[in-house]
Amino acid sequence: MLRRQGFLLSLLALAPIALAGCPAPGTGSTSGSPSPAASPAQTAAPAALPALEKVATPQDTFFTLPYLQLGTGARGTLELLWHVKEASADGWAVELRTPGKPAWRKSGQPLASRRVAVGGVPAHTVVRAVLDGLEPGLNFDYRVLKGGKPVFTARALAPKTADGSDDGAFRFVAFGDCAEGTPGQKRVAHQTFLAKPDFVLVTGDIVYDRGRASEYRSRFFPIYNADTAEPKIGAPLLRSTLFVGISGNHDLTYANLGRWPDGLAYYYYWSQPLNGPALTPGGRFTPPVRGSEGAKAALAKASGEAYPRGATFSFDYGNAHFTVLDSNYYMDWTNPELRAWLEKDLAGAQNAAWRFVGLHVPPFHSSRKHQEEQWMRVLSDLFEKYRVDLVISGHVHNYQRTFPMQFQAIRGLDGNFVGRGGRVAGEWALDREFDGETRTRPNGVIYLVTGAGGGALYDRGQQKDEASHQPFTAKYVADTHSFTVFDVKGRTLTVRQIDATGKERDRFTVAK
Ligand SMILES: [Fe+2]
Repeated sequence: MLRRQGFLLSLLALAPIALAGCPAPGTGSTSGSPSPAASPAQTAAPAALPALEKVATPQDTFFTLPYLQLGTGARGTLELLWHVKEASADGWAVELRTPGKPAWRKSGQPLASRRVAVGGVPAHTVVRAVLDGLEPGLNFDYRVLKGGKPVFTARALAPKTADGSDDGAFRFVAFGDCAEGTPGQKRVAHQTFLAKPDFVLVTGDIVYDRGRASEYRSRFFPIYNADTAEPKIGAPLLRSTLFVGISGNHDLTYANLGRWPDGLAYYYYWSQPLNGPALTPGGRFTPPVRGSEGAKAALAKASGEAYPRGATFSFDYGNAHFTVLDSNYYMDWTNPELRAWLEKDLAGAQNAAWRFVGLHVPPFHSSRKHQEEQWMRVLSDLFEKYRVDLVISGHVHNYQRTFPMQFQAIRGLDGNFVGRGGRVAGEWALDREFDGETRTRPNGVIYLVTGAGGGALYDRGQQKDEASHQPFTAKYVADTHSFTVFDVKGRTLTVRQIDATGKERDRFTVAK
């Protein structure tokens, strides 16, 4: 049918000594709220590691506790980042051990580091260690040493692959619009911990209000890397669970360094593949950075190559391919060079069982707020051509999903697809046969919004007002903070929306 459209455990966390370390995915205590079903991670990794000893972390050892990052995304690797006040990484080291090889061994030597001296936050050094030789899908232990003495330990899960070295099943969680320091953010963090995902995909607007380093320090790290897992605090996620960050408008558009000198922290705190389109600082498709030459130089020094290239990238996990796109207003995804990059990326992923696209600004949603910002619809043709299964977004602070759909954009009288305010007119075809339960083979792309990770909720009143929904909307949940759990098992995907109390609010299955 074508329609016409006009538009845990408790660890001591008190001064002067904090005990660091936490359960790995699949191994942690789940006391408290009920866990949403068993994770594939629980069966993927035989417990071949010795018990992880707790290590005392003297106060002020870290400026920011260690957190896992994707790094290059190369097989058998992750990166570990932490922040210190010292000017260099001298005296620091990382050791790890993997199942079957219980002896600690050094990893990531020499450590990489970048100085963040931007103003707005005390100067500090971001230290980065490559964790290599990991066994895909198996737990591993790492410890951080200062002056030869262990000061932090944790257990984590090595990324899964499609090459049969692990069981192939994996779970990831997505939520966005999150780090505002709210009770909802903390409860979602805690519930995410209980769900034991293999990794977490943050769908943008990671840190409020303006993506500043100081805001990461008050609203992001303390909650997602808390020493204890409690609904009113957060959980020790970042040290044990990979987070992948998608940039949103709050992360990259407050680019006036004169006013917010520690803005654009996304570029210096996230280490993700630098395989997106080549971009030039200050050039096309980059945030319009303003400020003194000194401020710009400080940003460049703090960010390295991640500025401005780091907001669009792709990676593989298990049997799936993930493409992350910068959807901010300064992008133009009708541009032939940008489209060529996406086309090449998706064409190269045709052997993957699943293709997921992550972007902040949703192409399709029903909320009144942000309704005009439709510019990412211009990529629907490529999503359909290259058989993208799900487009996962945020920006709109609630949960929504569409029927499987196809969309054909129509140029305006000016010859452009994107009109005033960002509207994109076009025609859509909906697969209303798909119900995600008995009919699980979709004809088209499912667009999902999961932006209820902690920020103030949007358009709650529309939840029951179905007349206000766009025809493509199949589900709309706006009365609670929530997150999405994706379970991939071979060629079956089960998606569940879980609210801040652990209650399931939506579920659908996709099979192929
Ligand atoms: Fe947003």
